[in-house]
Amino acid sequence: MIFQYLLVALLSFVIIYGTQWPVPYERVTNRPTNNPYCQAGLISFCPTGKTEDAMIYAQDDNDIIEIFALKKPVWSFKFGDLMAKFKIMHDALGFRSQQTGQNWTMEWYELDQLFNCTFPHVLQNDSFIWCDQGALCVYNGIVDSMWNGSSDLSMLKKVAQISGKNYNTWASWAVNDNDTGVYYETWTVYSDNGPNSTMYFDSYDCASFVIRGLNQLYSYGADILPNIHLNYTRINIYSYEPELLGTYDQIVQNQTLHQDFLNFYHNFDSKKPSTGEWIKSLIDIYETFFLSRRFYLYYNNVYWYMKLKQPAPLKISFNEIPITSLLKMK
Ligand SMILES: *[C@@H]1O[C@H](CO)[C@@H](O)[C@H](O)[C@H]1NC(C)=O
Ligand SMILES: *[C@@H]1O[C@H](CO)[C@@H](O)[C@H](O)[C@H]1NC(C)=O
Ligand SMILES: *[C@@H]1O[C@H](CO)[C@@H](O)[C@H](O)[C@H]1NC(C)=O
Ligand SMILES: *[C@@H]1O[C@H](CO)[C@@H](O)[C@H](O)[C@H]1NC(C)=O
Ligand SMILES: *[C@@H]1O[C@H](CO)[C@@H](O)[C@H](O)[C@H]1NC(C)=O
Ligand SMILES: *[C@@H]1O[C@H](CO)[C@@H](O)[C@H](O)[C@H]1NC(C)=O
Ligand SMILES: *[C@@H]1O[C@H](CO)[C@@H](O)[C@H](O)[C@H]1NC(C)=O
Ligand SMILES: *[C@@H]1O[C@H](CO)[C@@H](O)[C@H](O)[C@H]1NC(C)=O
Repeated sequence: MIFQYLLVALLSFVIIYGTQWPVPYERVTNRPTNNPYCQAGLISFCPTGKTEDAMIYAQDDNDIIEIFALKKPVWSFKFGDLMAKFKIMHDALGFRSQQTGQNWTMEWYELDQLFNCTFPHVLQNDSFIWCDQGALCVYNGIVDSMWNGSSDLSMLKKVAQISGKNYNTWASWAVNDNDTGVYYETWTVYSDNGPNSTMYFDSYDCASFVIRGLNQLYSYGADILPNIHLNYTRINIYSYEPELLGTYDQIVQNQTLHQDFLNFYHNFDSKKPSTGEWIKSLIDIYETFFLSRRFYLYYNNVYWYMKLKQPAPLKISFNEIPITSLLKMK
């Protein structure tokens, strides 16, 4: 009920004032329980981490905690370096105590894998289930060989350091960040590919965690080493100005719209990979963008309609984002 009021308020706001771009990513007060329907399948979430009180803190305020940028090709366990050729990289942070030599890793990723986060499950009766939560996994150790791979874009590199005391303040921030930023967003949406483009929606994925995490470490006093350049993968959609549609229940009220909406999601749902066919699925999904000319984006629990730009509605980018970029935006 409250959600309905908020949505009406949001719709009125949009009509009166126009939309604020990029649309701010909405946080929750507490992470909802994951729908038991949602299962990870092949790779379970955080198999080596603890499930409760998972954060690792510094034992001594006077310790120096070193910070590492970690990158590896997505699905490297399955495809080796293949994804690096398309610049599809996974990002994480590593930490090491100078006093004890102990190290640990933090990775933010999907609870139920990427495809489940990107497209809903369309049930027999046309209702949807989204398995789109992501979360922070913290575990002991940095497995050097996992990050220090043979791809040029792989990375295991010290980028900064911070006092134990300030690290612990940051670690509490990260726990709160994990409790309140819970939905994975695959896509970044821009008006075009040029330097003056408008960003309509920002992604919220493994790289976003590293970007805001490093920015927050800097704001808590971390020293950044000189000449650090970090590039991040984005999967960009280029669109005309998006149009807010609202919730599924609102979409159902317009039959033409509902039918097109279902066709769109059925089309993607049918292309999701079954074991072993991931590359074929990726290519099929990629082609869909060029044919469909439209996209229904799910963001902050509501849907938006987007008319895609032609001839290039989709592009993967791997551009530099400086550690202090978010701080400078405020
Ligand atoms: C999520 O994705 C994995 C791998 O694609 C799959 O095995 C699993 O069944 C999916 N979960 C659901 C609820 O479909
Ligand atoms: C983040 O949230 C997930 C999902 O609830 C949980 O499994 C994980 O342990 C949390 N991470 C930390 C560092 O608290
Ligand atoms: C659709 O089917 C699911 C699973 O069978 C059920 O839980 C849900 O209530 C149904 N929704 C509607 C609107 O009938
Ligand atoms: C992290 O610790 C492990 C186990 O001691 C060690 O093998 C690895 O080299 C360390 N990596 C870094 C980057 O400190
Ligand atoms: C990573 O690999 C390179 C080349 O294989 C090696 O020179 C370097 O010492 C390795 N770094 C770590 C931290 O293991
Ligand atoms: C971008 O904006 C700047 C400043 O307004 C302008 O000088 C430049 O020509 C624009 N570039 C493009 C490609 O539109
Ligand atoms: C229903 O949706 C269609 C397609 O998006 C749109 O053209 C039409 O104006 C909508 N009708 C109403 C009554 O909103
Ligand atoms: C990293 O980003 C910069 C600027 O955004 C770009 O010039 C450079 O080519 C990128 N590096 C790689 C390896 O793609």
